[in-house]
Amino acid sequence: MSILDSVRPGVRAMAGYVPGEQPRGLKRLIKLNTNENPYPPPQLVLDAIAGAADERLRLYPEPTSLPVREAAAQACGLQPEQVLVGNGSDDLLTIILRTFVDSGETVAAPDPTYSLYKPLTDIQGGRFVTVPWNEDFSLPVDALAATGAKVIFVVRPNAPTGHAVPLSSVAELCRKAPGAVVLDEAYGDFCEDNGIPLLAEHANLIVTRSFSKSFSLAGLRIGLGFTSAELAAQMHKVRDSYNVDALAQAAATAALENLDAYAPLIQAVKEQRTRLTEALNRRGFTAPPSQANFVLAKIPEGRRDGKAWLNDLRAEGLIVRYFGSHPKLTDKLRISIGTPEEMDVLLAVIDRILESN
Ligand SMILES: Cc1ncc(COP(=O)(O)O)c(C=O)c1O
Repeated sequence: MSILDSVRPGVRAMAGYVPGEQPRGLKRLIKLNTNENPYPPPQLVLDAIAGAADERLRLYPEPTSLPVREAAAQACGLQPEQVLVGNGSDDLLTIILRTFVDSGETVAAPDPTYSLYKPLTDIQGGRFVTVPWNEDFSLPVDALAATGAKVIFVVRPNAPTGHAVPLSSVAELCRKAPGAVVLDEAYGDFCEDNGIPLLAEHANLIVTRSFSKSFSLAGLRIGLGFTSAELAAQMHKVRDSYNVDALAQAAATAALENLDAYAPLIQAVKEQRTRLTEALNRRGFTAPPSQANFVLAKIPEGRRDGKAWLNDLRAEGLIVRYFGSHPKLTDKLRISIGTPEEMDVLLAVIDRILESN
């Protein structure tokens, strides 16, 4: 008898999530694999973190992250009671599943999408089902609704494809879905519109946001969730009591009160997104337009497969993401948008690799 026999069978059977690599020595490596922001947080946000790092750290943080909720509500035209704050938006995804999903119940999402949903559903003892995107990458509304899922996840713009389905199809899904619809807007700030206005009409909608991408704060772990006050009250019951630390709350509040400071960073990422998409397409890759801070590029025909591209780029100090275990993604690389200088290096390296073919 081993202690491992006492581990829940569902946990033993789980593969577990494999995050993108976080190399320890970043020197001489260009990191384009986990969609972080290539720019540092604005100085005023760093100052807010430093300002909160004092003797008050002996105290627990505000349990419901009230200052952050107030700032977020103000920024989005909602009430603080409609906002939840998470230790990263992944924490909110966990909170949502804890709120809705009992053992054996169904969770659904279009495929391919964010690969964390399945492990989180597994932890909950739920059943994760996927529905392929329609041929034109529109949302398979009826097929998703027909799964009968307690929770349906839609990422907009989607990861790893970068496309954003029309908000009208999200609204249609909210009308037809028997349970909650989660609109995961981790990349929403790089997109032209967002789902917040839909909240007024759809009581089963939850919108989530991340501070890890547009806000340059992946290291602090902050996320937001928006929904009705009634549903938020239920969700508060299942989160960790102090799920967001005091430094993260200080940073998030400062960021939300100074959104203008982020506009140039977001604009710079969008410009390099256009540049990279065009440059890849000129080099024989197929990179559809992206609304996020990454592009998903199909590799050119040739002797090099996706894994070889990953390794050849890595040998030149560039880390990108390759989802080789997904049948629809074996010939594609997901490349985060970096600074203009990082994109210069990437394109020069790609040219060298193509020449050596
Ligand atoms: C679609 C999607 N949702 C959520 C997250 C998690 O974000 P956070 O760092 O806020 O937990 C990611 C991170 O890559 C993501 O791609």
